[in-house]
Amino acid sequence: MENLVLYRKYRPQVFAEVAGQDHIIQTLCNSIKSGRVSHAYLFSGPRGCGKTTTARIMAKALNCQDRKVGNCEPCGKCSSCLEITNGNSLDLIEIDAASHRGIDDIRELRDGIKYVPSKSKYKVFIIDECHQLSKDAANALLKTLEEPPAHAIFILATTELHKMLPTILSRCQRFDFRKLKIDELVHRLKGLAEKENVKIDKAALELVAINAGGSVRDAESLLGQVLVFSGIKGGKETIKAGDIRDLLGIVEIKFIGDFIDLLTAKKAAEAIAFLNGITDKGFDLQEFNKSALNYLRHGLIMSLAGLSDSESAGLLLASGLTNEEFARLKQQASELKIERLRKIIELFLGAQEKIRYSPIPQLPLELAIIEACDAV
Ligand SMILES: Nc1ncnc2c1ncn2[C@@H]1O[C@H](COP(=O)(O)OP(=O)(O)OP(=O)(O)O)[C@@H](O)[C@H]1O
Ligand SMILES: [Mg+2]
Ligand SMILES: [Zn+2]
Repeated sequence: MENLVLYRKYRPQVFAEVAGQDHIIQTLCNSIKSGRVSHAYLFSGPRGCGKTTTARIMAKALNCQDRKVGNCEPCGKCSSCLEITNGNSLDLIEIDAASHRGIDDIRELRDGIKYVPSKSKYKVFIIDECHQLSKDAANALLKTLEEPPAHAIFILATTELHKMLPTILSRCQRFDFRKLKIDELVHRLKGLAEKENVKIDKAALELVAINAGGSVRDAESLLGQVLVFSGIKGGKETIKAGDIRDLLGIVEIKFIGDFIDLLTAKKAAEAIAFLNGITDKGFDLQEFNKSALNYLRHGLIMSLAGLSDSESAGLLLASGLTNEEFARLKQQASELKIERLRKIIELFLGAQEKIRYSPIPQLPLELAIIEACDAV
């Protein structure tokens, strides 16, 4: 496999390829169609969900020489589009504020702004990680945003909206990108796997998606690792969930669920035997404990009173559990009751650090189990 960096290879080149941000894409598309573009946009949201990608497509669409009337998509073939795709357009200036955060960098930008675009309608400035600009630089940028020349369009991107100057925010049209849902990620990954001619089943894709925590980039980079793995195995067999678990060293949620059942029933001896079984299977105990803690934490939050349906749905999404696993956790949490749940979390939290230093790695967890089964 020549190019394993999937997220570079398959970076969306038109709006229609951007997954999950429908609302944003539609609004941007409409403004391009109608020619009512703003001079400053702010794209905020978590890592790897499409901010830079969308900013580049936007630049392409605005400057495309061959865009059809009533269409917002760039043609992808004219010289302007090609230059942007290849990263050598003179009318698209990308600044990484994480490494160019000083006043001089912004001054340079302000001086450059005066000049009209070399060949296109607009000069587009994408400022990534904009929250990292120094105070002086941010103020200089603000000045520019107050009176931008007609040919300049700014697209600021940030992962940390709260660190942005409110005065800058108020100058921008704001778009909040969101993490992708599991099924949206699965859909995207499925398409990439097909393009790469790799067979991978749905449960395996789900597991990749769950472990990406909503980031498309992370999902694609995990999928890349999976493809390397499948290549090593000859690339003919269908990749299954078990393969992904082995590869990522993930403890199956079902194991965690079974383990918590034993604690709930106060079956200390069985829980310890179970733990030793996990160790024999070669799982890392700290990872196991971390997964268990994460699981219990969601149980704890879930059992806090007065969770609305939409909050519950949000929790389900954040937990990365399937509907069935989520229902099981709910049942366990209601059986354990909040007090005992809290106690158990504290016990296992205390064991986490000790695992590393203990002469017998499972001992701290065994002690925690005994106490957890004693508790209240
Ligand atoms: N919404 C999306 N739809 C399709 N692919 C996406 C999407 N978001 C991210 N990707 C994939 O992830 C890669 C990185 O995306 P991008 O650079 O746009 O993320 P970002 O939001 O700017 O993240 P960061 O905050 O880390 O800069 C892209 O090349 C693309 O392959
Ligand atoms: Mg980016
Ligand atoms: Zn074009």
